[in-house]
Amino acid sequence: MSLKMVRSGLWAPLAAALALSTLASVASAQAAAGDAVRGAKLAYTCYGCHGIPDYRNTYPTYHVPKIFGQRADYIVAALGEYKLGTRKHGRNGTMNAQAGSLSDKDIVDMAAFFEGATPLKSDGPTGTPPAIVATCVACHGADGVAIEGTGAPSLAGQHADYLVHSLQGYQKGTRQNGIMQGFAAQLKPADMQAAAAWFAAQRPSLWAQKPNGSKH
Ligand code: HEC
Ligand code: HEC
Repeated sequence: MSLKMVRSGLWAPLAAALALSTLASVASAQAAAGDAVRGAKLAYTCYGCHGIPDYRNTYPTYHVPKIFGQRADYIVAALGEYKLGTRKHGRNGTMNAQAGSLSDKDIVDMAAFFEGATPLKSDGPTGTPPAIVATCVACHGADGVAIEGTGAPSLAGQHADYLVHSLQGYQKGTRQNGIMQGFAAQLKPADMQAAAAWFAAQRPSLWAQKPNGSKH
């Protein structure tokens, strides 16, 4: 940890990250036990949005996130938060309604299905990252393929406008997470755009997938 990070108070989120990584490894062990075959059957309701390439949320307009290839432990955490209502999705609460009817086993099984049999594997960054990205790689990985055990989502190939929407959510407090609220608070709008554009351009990428298995 650099002195600059200590002075700017970034050590607090990092300490929280250590505590969280213990939880994340528990979640990850549960996710590993997920039944992907059962998860695939449950996922049919999700293709209406997560299976359509470039599909957009409206009010506000941003791309529906790619969830195929995403880390199972993060999917478990995200669905748990929608279910509890600690993470809210817009005025209509579509994702809150989607998650509300899922059991813990449903969530773990679907997470195993979305992560896939061969999770994204880092093969190094594409291009030269903007300076701000150095602050993110400890958890999100040098090329946006998240470091296992950190609880962080992979960002590689995710829609840039969705990443900006998430970061703004942490700044506004509509998305709550001790670690990411700490990091997002330090980001200027230009840093946010630069980090989002860079992670969105990284490969291998998260993807959208149609019910017939075709990937986008
Ligand atoms: C009507 C469209 C729609 C449907 C159907 C839908 N989702 Fe979503 N989903 C979204 C949108 C939009 C977001 C981003 C919401 C936000 O900003 O928090 C999202 C976010 C997510 C996230 C968080 C992704 C991230 O990177 O944080 C997960 C996980 C997820 N959905 C899983 C599912 C599952 C599982 C189903 C089926 C049970 C499902 N979704 C059905 C539109 C949908
Ligand atoms: C100490 C680890 C750590 C660092 C460093 C970190 N993050 Fe995160 N990030 C996380 C975790 C954990 C989450 C999941 C939080 C949650 O559940 O809401 C996350 C979530 C995110 C999300 C939401 C993605 C989605 O699918 O909705 C974005 C965007 C993001 N981080 C961007 C960044 C950027 C940009 C930086 C650098 C400025 C950064 N993060 C630094 C751990 C970290």
